Amino acid sequence: MAVRLGDIAPDFKAETTEGEVSFHDWLGDKWGVLFSHPADFTPVCTTELGMVSKLKGEFDKRNTKVIGLSVDPLDSHKKWINDINETQNTTVNFPMIADDDKNVSTLYDMIHPNANDKLTVRSVFIVGPDKKVKLTLTYPASTGRDFNEILRAIDSLQLTAKYSVATPVNWKDGDDCIIINSISDEDAEKKFPKGFTKVKPYLRTTPQPNK
Ligand code: BEZ
Repeated sequence: MAVRLGDIAPDFKAETTEGEVSFHDWLGDKWGVLFSHPADFTPVCTTELGMVSKLKGEFDKRNTKVIGLSVDPLDSHKKWINDINETQNTTVNFPMIADDDKNVSTLYDMIHPNANDKLTVRSVFIVGPDKKVKLTLTYPASTGRDFNEILRAIDSLQLTAKYSVATPVNWKDGDDCIIINSISDEDAEKKFPKGFTKVKPYLRTTPQPNK
């Protein structure tokens, strides 16, 4: 069954390149990104995993752990990591799940048979410290993901979890936010001391509250 926003992210135990992981315990009180790629020793995946390694410091800053997955076995992951390190000029620094029994990919509905009945698609699940799924993405094998967009989305998720705001189109950290409509103007004055602009009764903007 599909994993939907607001669901508890299914827990699992899995072999990874950094030893056995029990997902919820591994997350602890942090945010998490679980992402799948179709197959080891493939070009787009090689660039994606290299980029995630390079962005590890950005995920750390956001108190977020990252874990990859494909249905390839552990010895394949380990051999491929050497290629990723060599060609992408990096050192892979996060665990990759060896899901050769398809346990996790089935739990998370990462195999879409009408796309490919054997390999995972490019799924992303962002999980909050409460273990609930906050965001999902699904890309086909031919389209590499933009992990800067995933960082941007984490910024929005973390901000909107804490303040009564939403983030508008193309928002990035530091930009003005939108006050959610359940907050009255009177409460908005108290909650947002930097003030707000009322463009329409349903469209009120305010400087990012935590900046
Ligand atoms: C790739 O990562 O390059 C890839 C993987 C599976 C199918 C197509 C492309």
